[in-house]
Formats: sequence, structure tokens, C-alpha cells
Amino acid sequence: MDQYTLQPSSNELTLVLGQQLESGPLGNQHVVVRMMAASLNYRDLLCRGDLEGTRPGLVPLSDGAGEVIEVGSAVTRWRPGDRVSPAFFPKWRSGPFRPEHLAEALGGSSTDGVLRSLFVAHEDAFVRIPDRLSFAEAATLPCAGVTAWHALFERDQVGPEHTILVQGTGGVSIIALQLAQAVGARVIVTSSSDTKLAVAKSMGARAGVNYKTVPDWDQAVLDLTDGRGVDHILELGGPDTYNRSINCLAFGGTISQIGVLTGFGSKPDITPLQFKNGRINGICVGSAEHFERLMAFVDAHAITPAVSKTFTWSGAAEAYEALRRADHFGKVVITIQDHL
Ligand SMILES: NC(=O)c1ccc[n+]([C@@H]2O[C@H](COP(=O)([O-])OP(=O)(O)OC[C@H]3O[C@@H](n4cnc5c(N)ncnc54)[C@H](OP(=O)(O)O)[C@@H]3O)[C@@H](O)[C@H]2O)c1
Repeated sequence: MDQYTLQPSSNELTLVLGQQLESGPLGNQHVVVRMMAASLNYRDLLCRGDLEGTRPGLVPLSDGAGEVIEVGSAVTRWRPGDRVSPAFFPKWRSGPFRPEHLAEALGGSSTDGVLRSLFVAHEDAFVRIPDRLSFAEAATLPCAGVTAWHALFERDQVGPEHTILVQGTGGVSIIALQLAQAVGARVIVTSSSDTKLAVAKSMGARAGVNYKTVPDWDQAVLDLTDGRGVDHILELGGPDTYNRSINCLAFGGTISQIGVLTGFGSKPDITPLQFKNGRINGICVGSAEHFERLMAFVDAHAITPAVSKTFTWSGAAEAYEALRRADHFGKVVITIQDHL
């Protein structure tokens, strides 16, 4: 039984492979899962760089998938052999988000994550994986997928009458593209790469704008929508993108505040939202019930999450570097059981 931990170092926490210790007697409502795959999010780079906020010795990564191998005596939801994925917030099953959930998020600040052979948690923390998804595909969904789902379908009701904008071609953007398309929405994608825009279009994106070669990409989005703008924007950029997002938002539209790709501390001019009757929804991933509804939707619409690169267990550090280079499209995955 192995696990990776983040250990102190001078400028960022180092990823160290070691032995996973026995976790003691199994609680009667707890479940032991043999982890099969994990995926990385931009957040995992932030956690490694957060020397003060991340506990030394933390097991990193929030997103994984595996197979139940043992259940406590009172467990009713699961039995050995079930394929499951842990929810990003293991104790946020449903209802309102509470302050204590923030520190409970897997693989961040103080709560151990999934980059380990065995993962043990309360039975309510898990969501069933549809048969048609591989472990690698399922492992892409707990953070990026749930965030996109929450933004588009729990806090908004995106449908065929809507145009959506996603920023970049990383994990959140590409699953959002797939989800929005499944209900017939038109999706516009921005990217620094014409090659990635071509891939997005081959997946059904209505249009693409290269934000490097077209710095006024908001104007390009307005042109693409006959001056109307887009109904829902997944705001992933932050300070460098916010005012442009507000500029190309349609009247009555929604911005989902999700990302910090260009930094923290956005100070957008929100006055135009007033004249557009627009709104900003803050999104912090989602609940286990959101995750269940996402899984059902992914299954019903035969969506296959985009796994861009897969690394072996011993190549976990390379997976981080691949995410940092940002040459992926969709998700970067680590397989966990290939070392056995
Ligand atoms: N609030 C939440 O609950 C939540 C949940 C998940 C993620 N997030 C946040 O959402 C953001 C995306 O996360 P992720 O895991 O999907 O990231 P990711 O997979 O690492 O994607 C990174 C991609 O973002 C694009 N990008 C970088 N700078 C950009 C810019 N200025 N304008 C437009 N696109 C840009 C690039 O796409 P191209 O290569 O195509 O240019 C890059 O490849 C991050 O800030 C993350 O922290 C928040």
C-alpha cells in the first residue's frame, strides 16, 4: 500500500512516494476503496505552491475513482465490487453549503486526498460510477465535472436557446462544453491554441476565439453573436478576463465565478451588470447529490470525458508538470493500480 504526500521544501511542496499506514479498525458506516485512477486540477498546482495553507504530509488530489473492497457492518449503500468515486466535499451530501465544508475538501489544506492505494470514508461520501465510464474517465469528474454541472444546471437552467462561453480548454471548460452541448446549447471556446480550438470545434463547439492572437476576444464574441453576447460565461480567468466577460455577457445573462487562472483578487467593474440585469453566481464545486445528478446525465447522454494524458503511478510528478505546461486538452490522469 503506497501513497504520495506533499513534504516541505523551499519554494513549493515536494511530492514524495511512501508507504500508506494502516488506518485502524473500520468504522461501521465506513467503506474501503481500492483507488484505480486520479485526475489533476489546476487547484492541485495551487496547493503545492501554498506553503502556509497546505499541511505538510498531506495526501494530495481531490479527484479519484476506484472499487469498494470492504464495508463496515452498518453500510447499506455499497458492497464489495461496486465502482465509486469520492465526492470533492465528502460531508456535503445535499442542501446548503456550510463554512466547515471548505476545510473538508479532499487533497487541500488539511484533509488527505486520493493519491493513495486505499481510500477510506463514510459511505455517504461516495457516488456510483456508470458502467460505461472507465475508472480514468470517472476520475475526471469530482471537481471539474461537478463544478461545470453546478454552474450550468443547478444554479442556472441552460438549454437549447442559450449560448455559453468557456475560457480555455482545461478540465472545467471541456466538460462544460460537453454538458452544454448535450442539451443543445451553442458553445464558444477561447484558447491560446488554434490546434486546441480545432479539437473543440470537432467536438461540436460552435466557434473558437484565440485569446492570444485576438486580445479583444470579448468583441469577437459579440461579433459571433450578432452583438447580443452570451447567456452564460464560465469565468475561469480572473483579473485579466473579468471585464471582458462582463462586456460580452448578454442582457439577463449569468457569469459563474469559478476560476483564478490569471490570479486572485479580481476587481471587475460590475456596473454594466446592472444595466444588463446580469448576475454573478459564486461556484465552489458542488455536493454529492450534484455529483450523482452529473453521473446520471453523463450516462444518459453517453458523454465520454476528455482524458488528454495518462501517467503511471510512478510518473505522478510528471503529471503535475504536464498540467503546469498547460498543453493538455481536458484532463490529466494518473493510474494508481499499475504499480501492484
Ligand atoms: N470554483 C470552483 O469550484 C473551481 C472548480 C474547478 C476549477 N476551478 C478553477 O477554474 C480554473 C480552471 O481549472 P481547471 O482545473 O479546469 O484548469 P486546467 O485544466 O489546468 O486548465 C488550464 C487552461 O486554462 C486556460 N487558460 C489559462 N489562462 C487563460 C486565460 N487568460 N484565458 C483563458 N483561458 C486561459 C488554458 O487553456 P488553453 O491552453 O486552451 O489556452 C489552460 O490550458 C482554475 O482557476 C481553477 O482553480 C474552480
